[in-house]
Parts: sequence; C-alpha cells; structure tokens
Amino acid sequence: MRTLAGCAALALCLLAVAAETPSGDVANGKRLFMTYGCYECHGTMGAGGGIAGPRIAPNPLPFFGVKTKLRTASGRMPVYSETVLKDAEIADIYAYLQSIPTGKNAHDIEMLNR
Ligand code: HEC
Repeated sequence: MRTLAGCAALALCLLAVAAETPSGDVANGKRLFMTYGCYECHGTMGAGGGIAGPRIAPNPLPFFGVKTKLRTASGRMPVYSETVLKDAEIADIYAYLQSIPTGKNAHDIEMLNR
C-alpha cells in the first residue's frame, strides 16, 4: 500500500513537471542561445566548456530548474531578467536544449575501435 502511494505521488510529480514544460520554437531557441551568449560558456550544443560553464544538454534539467537558474543570481553565471529574456524566449531556448541529440556511445564509433 505504501509503495502504491509512493508511486501515485511520483506519478503526480512527474505529471506536474511535464505540465510545466511549455512548448517552444527550436529554431528561435537556437538563435537566442547564440545571440545571448549561452554558447560562449556552454558550447554551441550545450556540451560545456571546462571551467566556463557546465554541460546543460542533452537531457537538460526540468524547465523549472533552467528558468530558475536564469532568473536567480548564483554562482558565476550572469542573471537574465524578464526585461532581457521573456518567459516565452526561455521556453524557446529550452526547446532547443531538448532537441540536442545524445551523442553516440564510443563503442559504436568505428574509428575509435580500430
Ligand atoms: C559567462 C558564462 C555563462 C553564460 C554567458 C551563460 N552561462 Fe549558464 N552557467 C555558467 C556557469 C559557470 C554555470 C554553473 C553555475 C554557476 O557558477 O553559476 C552555469 C549554469 C547553468 C545552468 C545550470 C546547470 C546545472 O546543471 O546546474 C543552466 C541550465 C544554464 N547555465 C543555462 C544557460 C543559458 C540558457 C544561458 C544563456 C541564456 C547561459 N547559461 C549563459 C556560465 C554561463
């Protein structure tokens, strides 16, 4: 019974996270990612750049986490306020991050297995 309740709570939680993810425009998100300098620290595909910025794609944090990071002053990353980047624009950037495919496993790349 306890497991069942846990499952239900988790399912609700996952639904809530899914519901909070707005749909965005991938192409515009990519444009914003380049225009607002995200790529300078996180790389053009979000793969991260050593000490400049961590990997943020593929498999980005939930939308709420990404938005909170952009809006809140913490760490070394600049804050992007509502005046600079609208909520809808963050949704577009998020759609771009979600569209970035996972790289191939090293075992599946022929040149690395010679
Ligand atoms: C000047 C470099 C810089 C720029 C520009 C920058 N970031 Fe960051 N970002 C960071 C660093 C460094 C961190 C690690 C936490 C910290 O120190 O703030 C980070 C953390 C993040 C995280 C959280 C990653 C995690 O797993 O906790 C997200 C999401 C993110 N950045 C997205 C973006 C987006 C989207 C943009 C463009 C709108 C952007 N960043 C622009 C440097 C940058």
